[in-house]
Amino acid sequence: MKRDILGIREMDIEDIKAILAMAKAAQPKVADKSKRDKSLENTSITTLFYENSTRTKLSFLLVGEYLGAMPSDLNISTSSVNKGETLIDTGKTLAAMGTNVIIIRHGMTGAAHLLAKNVGCSVINGGDGSNEHPTQALLDMFTMEEALGTLKGINVAIVGDIANSRVARSNVFGLQKMGARVTLAGPATMLSGGMAAFGATITNNVKDAIKDADVIMGLRVQLERQRALKVPSLLEYSQAFGVDDEMLSHAKPHALIMHPGPTNRGVEMTASVLDSKNSLVYNQVANGVAVRMACLKYVMEGR
Ligand code: NCD
Repeated sequence: MKRDILGIREMDIEDIKAILAMAKAAQPKVADKSKRDKSLENTSITTLFYENSTRTKLSFLLVGEYLGAMPSDLNISTSSVNKGETLIDTGKTLAAMGTNVIIIRHGMTGAAHLLAKNVGCSVINGGDGSNEHPTQALLDMFTMEEALGTLKGINVAIVGDIANSRVARSNVFGLQKMGARVTLAGPATMLSGGMAAFGATITNNVKDAIKDADVIMGLRVQLERQRALKVPSLLEYSQAFGVDDEMLSHAKPHALIMHPGPTNRGVEMTASVLDSKNSLVYNQVANGVAVRMACLKYVMEGR
């Protein structure tokens, strides 16, 4: 157990396994109110999100409510951040008020690490720039293991705006550690050659990427991180790299569909693919709550 969860890259296999096992134990508490306990009573958690979020922020706040913690959200747009207060001063202020865990999302790579170095409380990275999104990769691995029984030897194809994706990076680190094979696919302008060094296969050909895949994960084109659109148009992107029923006919019939959300239906994946019987998109969301229960317990025990 460790005090913080900052990235999958620095996480031991044993820690990943421990969190996945804790999430399995926590899973019944997500839907069944009577199974919930007060294990995070007297724990104060604060979400500090400098970037938009639906799933990550809300699932941490709900876990806080479900397990008796006292969750609060600092609304950045109405906070003193707008008066020029720094990240470190903001974090120290939250810690001084008695916050035990800060969950941070920030546009800058390394923001969560910087905060963790400077505050006395635990820090969980809810996404730092294009770097890492560890709790997303943990919930993705949990969902794949639940559906396939194992992560060892499975083939995962991740298709989309790889270069900007902290989800892709954290999944590559995690899945490789757990013995899975990862292929990253997208237009050359959206691929990050660096990931080959971590053992991922890189290709521009979506058909090749998905043909042996057990899991096909779509990623959003992150226009907010692209200074100029990296493809001629989103229509052309979806025609060449989007996953639709025709593209899916080249995959194995049992291939599972995943997406971290938010989806731009019809761009990276069509509605009929996202809503197909093999889609695990809402399993991911529900499992995200269980995994974040585990993450909060893990950092509290790691203190
Ligand atoms: C992702 C993110 O914020 O990194 N969303 C999420 O947390 N589920 C992916 C995205 O924004 O496209």
